[in-house]
Amino acid sequence: MWGWMRTRKVVIFDDAASLEEEAAQQVVRAVRNAVARRGECRLALSGGSTPRGLYTRLAEEPHRERVDWSKLHLFWGDERCVPPDHPESNYRMVHEALLARVPLLDGSVHRIPVELGPDRAAARYEEAIRAGSGEAVPRFDVVLLGMGADGHTASLFPDTPALSEERRLVVPTVAPTPPHDRVSITLRVINAARLVAFLVVGPDKARTLARVLADEGRTSDGSLPASLVRPRTGRLLWLLDKAAAAHLAMEDREIGQE
Ligand code: 6PG
Repeated sequence: MWGWMRTRKVVIFDDAASLEEEAAQQVVRAVRNAVARRGECRLALSGGSTPRGLYTRLAEEPHRERVDWSKLHLFWGDERCVPPDHPESNYRMVHEALLARVPLLDGSVHRIPVELGPDRAAARYEEAIRAGSGEAVPRFDVVLLGMGADGHTASLFPDTPALSEERRLVVPTVAPTPPHDRVSITLRVINAARLVAFLVVGPDKARTLARVLADEGRTSDGSLPASLVRPRTGRLLWLLDKAAAAHLAMEDREIGQE
């Protein structure tokens, strides 16, 4: 078994609500650990629709009071190149569900500046990720990810050059569906994280998810970007609902609470 696979855990939930609650507990635990150990927490948020319920829960009791929001630095794993108040904006989704409801410090919310255009936004955002980190590859304490039915994660799409990027931390990418222009962190950043947590729900991803969890560690082609998420030393957590897990092989299932 690949070393990193020993740190992989798959947990399957009856429904999205119980998944979100566990995810909120996991995030709060990771944030508190990071703050206790390093005085701050660097958290990269996923976009799309799945994590909205998690973000909403984090802004509410009992989770809200357990987080020292003044020690949190929020980033995004990716962004669509649309205005921050656009319905498709990941920033807007997080602002509505979380940012407007918790006391984060000024300067601790690192929005991807897509108004600069994909290339300049990627370069500027890479500077923001590197700022304050003396590491060659800055380590996020937590990276939250989703997965599309095509196996993409963040805005890293199948069979694209971004998957083999070995120097940059952030790249412009092009999505097959609108909004096409995106900005995304690369696998180099994701796989340096201390905890990577996927949240995947719904039947439309079940077949792809089974391939991803079965393929992990064996395939290095670009057809399943999510299967290339293999934290070097960090933990990998898959939080799934039953519908998304419907086609998992028995050896890829671990049912129960974390
Ligand atoms: C995005 C996300 C993307 C998302 C998946 C799943 O910007 O859309 O970063 O990777 O996590 O597409 O999206 P849903 O949660 O909406 O199914």
